[in-house]
Amino acid sequence: MSALLSLRNVWVEYGEKIVLEDVKLDIAPGSFVSIIGPSGAGKSSLLRVILGQETPTRGTILLDDEPLTPECGPDRGVVFQRYSVFPHLSALGNTLFGLECAQAPFTARLFGAKRRAAVAEAEEMLTAVGLGDSLHLYPAEMSGGMQQRLAIAQALVKRPRILLLDEPFGALDPGIRADMHALITRLWRDYSLTVVMVTHDIKEAFSLGTRVLTLDKRRHDPHAPHRFGATAVYDLHLTKPKPGCADKDDDSSITIDNINNN
Ligand SMILES: Nc1ncnc2c1ncn2[C@@H]1O[C@H](COP(=O)(O)OP(=O)(O)OP(=O)(O)O)[C@@H](O)[C@H]1O
Ligand SMILES: [Mg+2]
Repeated sequence: MSALLSLRNVWVEYGEKIVLEDVKLDIAPGSFVSIIGPSGAGKSSLLRVILGQETPTRGTILLDDEPLTPECGPDRGVVFQRYSVFPHLSALGNTLFGLECAQAPFTARLFGAKRRAAVAEAEEMLTAVGLGDSLHLYPAEMSGGMQQRLAIAQALVKRPRILLLDEPFGALDPGIRADMHALITRLWRDYSLTVVMVTHDIKEAFSLGTRVLTLDKRRHDPHAPHRFGATAVYDLHLTKPKPGCADKDDDSSITIDNINNN
């Protein structure tokens, strides 16, 4: 099977505390994986190990069948719930920064033709997320929804193949969330992304995802709450019409192909 990302018996432990226990997961290219689970289950920890920000205590993660490099590579982009943009840089500056770091790792500055090309790419990405008219605004001058659009542009400008989202819409009003759902579905399709999104909103998990994974503890020890970690207790593969063809609020066409409760 050709998984893009493969977690093989991954454990994450902090001292005595076991957070993730023996997670086995193959993520197919082009899938949109929603991750749900109780607070503290280890959802963000799972994203951090996929991002390469943290190394699992045990187990391996393969990207294209190769062990993941320890640092966060350009193939993975990330958006957190909030505060992932730099307050002292404009929308354009924030988006350019990622490109400058990737292309000029020591100075984070590009000059001449390279800079012009980077500015054009950043502008194109800001337009794609709906911020084409806000290039020179600073985060403090933007709404929460605009800041999340900017965070998405910043993550996508490096053209990652995998986009990791940690409750990216959790702080937004319902109307703005619906716009963001349409945006992320469009970007997922247009840029052929593989998305892994953590959310607390079960409806969002099912309406956006092609697969919904529930992280939770399979065993509890009431006397030692940290003795057991969480793992994927439910893994639902969904079939749905191609994005953009269905009303985004209509979940009735979802069928569940496969439930793995191993
Ligand atoms: N650096 C760390 N050192 C020690 N414990 C940590 C560390 N990072 C996370 N933890 C612990 O790991 C557990 C899982 O945390 P994590 O943030 O992954 O949960 P989560 O599922 O994302 O929760 P939430 O839904 O509240 O965001 C928690 O008990 C947390 O306290
Ligand atoms: Mg979290």
